[in-house]
Amino acid sequence: MTDESKILNHCSFCGASKESVKKLVVGESAAICSGCIELCEELIVDDTQVDGEEETVLYDPEAIKEFLDHHVIGQDDAKMILSVAISNHYKRITKPPKDLEIQKGNVLVVGPTGSGKTLLARTAAKYLKVPFIVADATSLTEAGYVGDDVESMISMLLNAAGGDKELAERGIVFIDEIDKIARKGESTSITRDVSGEGVQQALLKLVEGTTCRVPNSGGRKHPGSDMIEVNTKNILFIAGGAFVGLKDVISNRMNGTSIGFGAEIKDTKVEGDLGKVTPDDLTKFGMIPEFIGRFTTTVSIKELTKKQLIHILTDVKNNYISQYKYLLKLDGIELTFGSDSLDEIAERTLKLKTGARGLHTEIERVLMPHMFHTRKYRENEIKQINITREDVLNPKPLL
Ligand SMILES: Nc1ncnc2c1ncn2[C@@H]1O[C@H](COP(=O)(O)OP(=O)(O)O)[C@@H](O)[C@H]1O
Ligand SMILES: [Mg+2]
Repeated sequence: MTDESKILNHCSFCGASKESVKKLVVGESAAICSGCIELCEELIVDDTQVDGEEETVLYDPEAIKEFLDHHVIGQDDAKMILSVAISNHYKRITKPPKDLEIQKGNVLVVGPTGSGKTLLARTAAKYLKVPFIVADATSLTEAGYVGDDVESMISMLLNAAGGDKELAERGIVFIDEIDKIARKGESTSITRDVSGEGVQQALLKLVEGTTCRVPNSGGRKHPGSDMIEVNTKNILFIAGGAFVGLKDVISNRMNGTSIGFGAEIKDTKVEGDLGKVTPDDLTKFGMIPEFIGRFTTTVSIKELTKKQLIHILTDVKNNYISQYKYLLKLDGIELTFGSDSLDEIAERTLKLKTGARGLHTEIERVLMPHMFHTRKYRENEIKQINITREDVLNPKPLL
């Protein structure tokens, strides 16, 4: 028997002959039997799944919140509520109850732009080591219209999971700008001229749990097939939006609308607090009740304060200051910031009304003249840049 025919007739792993096994898959220079394939599969699954005890630790809300604390500044209440929601979701899907139906709870995050909505969701996914994607609700359309239909999100998720269907089925989809698909009319922010209601309708099935046929993104786990069926029932959907105008809806409810004859006019109006939002408020805003019914947890986040903005600049993991310090260090320059300069940066950022996103804009503006002239600095042996409040107000190179 030649070497080659032995390869074609025997499992290269256990040596079993073709006749003694259920199936022998033969490659160019090796073969594997069905028994060994099953064994390998088990090994892989064992490696990727956490066992009992680790799981309890992993899905402990306090542990989740602690991880979030390292990346997201402030938003304490939101982090707590989100941690519990995530914990329950992953407990439910890893240990599904036998004779009890636990309803899936997707999460709705409301609050001002640039304050950490996406960051919270992304960080949670990082903690859980599950695939994560961000989809923009405004680009979604009902099936049959031009644009991405809602199932395109699942296809993106499968991609993010490297084509691994099982992994994708435990992933997290963040649907951004969900407020922009509010129904027109009752909503105070009319930004969409086609009815968002149809998109909300289209999302219902998907977020509740359905099977989608999506194109195979070419992952090594499912070779050969063009389409893969992905079940969405265990995918966690987190929808986020700024919901501009929702505060007024809440405030009107809390104060009683003072319209019409004999309406009581109160001097002390309570300001609407997003933390007190009810499903009814969201319906008034323009979300359809069926949609709200599928996002059982609502998390509200707050506008960041000046102090929190400074924290974000200096303390959070991968913060902007460390990033720029590193970049300048590559040119042999040490970058420092006086505390009054940070205060001024945060102050100006608040005025931009884009939350922490404005910090990036500000710091770029302040450091631009320096970063541009690093060669000159090197030639003149300038090895230190200390940013003062004056530099923030009027950025200019040292030379
Ligand atoms: N609470 C926060 N803690 C730390 N960084 C934040 C926080 N909020 C926003 N950021 C920063 O601002 C950027 C934009 O935040 P993001 O989460 O996308 O805001 P949005 O609420 O609009 O989704 C993030 O990439 C992050 O760097
Ligand atoms: Mg966002």
